[in-house]
Amino acid sequence: MTKIAIIVGSTRQGRQSHKLAQWVANDLGKKADVEILDLVDYPMPFLDEAISPRYNPNRTPEPTIKTWLDKVAGFDGYVLVTPEYNRSTSAVLKNAIDVLAHEWDDKPVALVAHGTTGGAQAVASLRIALPGVGAVTIPQALFFSDRLAESISDDGELAAEIRERPYGPQAQLDTQIESLLWYTNALKSARK
Ligand SMILES: Cc1cc2nc3c(=O)[nH]c(=O)nc-3n(C[C@H](O)[C@H](O)[C@H](O)COP(=O)(O)O)c2cc1C
Repeated sequence: MTKIAIIVGSTRQGRQSHKLAQWVANDLGKKADVEILDLVDYPMPFLDEAISPRYNPNRTPEPTIKTWLDKVAGFDGYVLVTPEYNRSTSAVLKNAIDVLAHEWDDKPVALVAHGTTGGAQAVASLRIALPGVGAVTIPQALFFSDRLAESISDDGELAAEIRERPYGPQAQLDTQIESLLWYTNALKSARK
């Protein structure tokens, strides 16, 4: 079965991103083998290697970075749940990308963002960064602008009035999932 990792891009106390990740997992889990990877569980130093990871065949990553790399390599596709901080993605998520070498080469990434204004600039920053590690961002993205604290429960249940909104987050998620699975299957067979 297709294996998809959903990465929680916030480690902040009192964060909300984990709810968005759970909501995605509940739906995507009906069609793929999903696992939520929480960056809280992968505390890593900021990248400080002398040579760019993609150009260092003799690389010996710092142990906590190696744990992350070993884990994150084993998926066919990814969903990044990103908050927007100061018009960009979070530093912790960007660092988790910067330490990658070839683990995401020719693999698809779906972007699910949120923030006071919906996270469009977090998505834009990731669309610039991800080709740097060989990943393919799918054309659509999900911009969640309702207040997460009141919109999604801890177990990933979206409030009924939002779920039923035409062209709202639920419709965006359905499109995202369909597209992510299409790219996952296409790229997986192309990589063989
Ligand atoms: C340091 C900081 C900067 C922020 N900057 C933005 C921003 O530029 N644009 C935006 O839409 N929301 C911004 N926000 C709001 C966050 O996106 C919002 O609080 C969101 O819930 C953060 O995700 P998290 O709760 O999972 O950490 C900012 C929040 C913080 C803490």
